Amino acid sequence: MPAEINFHVTRYNPECDQAPYVKTYRVPVREGMTVLDGLHYIKDNLDSSLAWRYSCRMGVCGSCGMLLNGRATLACNTQILHIATTDLTVGPLPNFDIIRDLVPDLLTMFEKHVAVKPYIVRADEAELDDPAGEFYQSPEELGAYLQFTYCIKCGCCMAACPTLATDARYSGPMPLAAAQRYNADTRDDGRRARNQLTGSSHGAFRCHYAGECSRVCPKGVDPAKAIQYLKRQLVLDYLHLARRKKPCAKMHGPGQGKPLANITPAPAKTV
Ligand code: SF4
Ligand code: SF4
Ligand code: FES
Repeated sequence: MPAEINFHVTRYNPECDQAPYVKTYRVPVREGMTVLDGLHYIKDNLDSSLAWRYSCRMGVCGSCGMLLNGRATLACNTQILHIATTDLTVGPLPNFDIIRDLVPDLLTMFEKHVAVKPYIVRADEAELDDPAGEFYQSPEELGAYLQFTYCIKCGCCMAACPTLATDARYSGPMPLAAAQRYNADTRDDGRRARNQLTGSSHGAFRCHYAGECSRVCPKGVDPAKAIQYLKRQLVLDYLHLARRKKPCAKMHGPGQGKPLANITPAPAKTV
C-alpha cells in the first residue's frame, strides 16, 4: 500500500497574488519516489498550474533546487520517504526572488558568478598562438581544485547562507568557490584580478564560516573550505608573500621576532 503524504507547497503567482501562501496536496507515495516525482503527480492529477524548474532528473543540471522540510536540496535527488512520514513542506529557495511558485530567480547568483571571472585567465598569448597546445598539469595540481569543479550551480548553498540573508551584496558561496577553483588552477593568471572582488567588503571576509553552504551542497563541493583558502591567499597577497621563493613556515606579526623584509606596514588609521 502506498503511503499518503501531505505536500504543503508554497504557491505564488506575482501577477495575481499579494504574497506567497501554502496549498496542501495529498500525494500517494511508493518507495523510491522522489520529491520531483511527487510534484509531477500533483501537476498531472491535482493541479496543473503548479510551477517548478527541472531538467535532468538525475542531480546533474542543478535546476530543481528547493526547500524541503526547511533544507535547501535537489528535488530529484531526494526520496520522499527518506524525509517524510506524513507531511512534507516544499518551498522555493530562500535568498532569491520568486518568479513563480517554486521557481527562484537565480539571476543575482549568476551575475555574481560572472563577476569573479569563472574561466582561465592567461597572462601570455600562448593559447592564442597554439589553440590546440597542451598545458600540462600533474595529478597533484589537478587535486588542488578538482573538488570545486563539481559545482552544478543549483543555488542551494546560496539559499542556506546566513550572511547572504542579511547582505544581498555578499558574493556568496557558489561564486566564491568558483573563484577559488580558478585561482588554484596552475594554468590561470587571474587571481590578482579576482582579488578586487573576492577581497572587497562584500567578498570572502564577509563569510563567518558557519558552514551551512557545505552542509547542504548536494555535490560535495565544500564552498566553505574554498572560501577559507581564498581568505588565506588574500592575506598572503596583501602581505606580498605569495610569490616568495621560500615562504616562512611561521608568520611573524608586528613586533614578534625578526621582521620580514617584504612586509609593507599598513598605513596608520586616522580617527
Ligand atoms: S557549491 Fe554546491 S550547493 Fe552551491 S551551487 Fe554548487 S553544487 Fe549547488
Ligand atoms: S560558510 Fe560562509 S558562505 Fe558558507 S554559509 Fe557560512 S557564511 Fe555563508
Ligand atoms: S532535475 Fe537536474 S538536478 Fe534535479
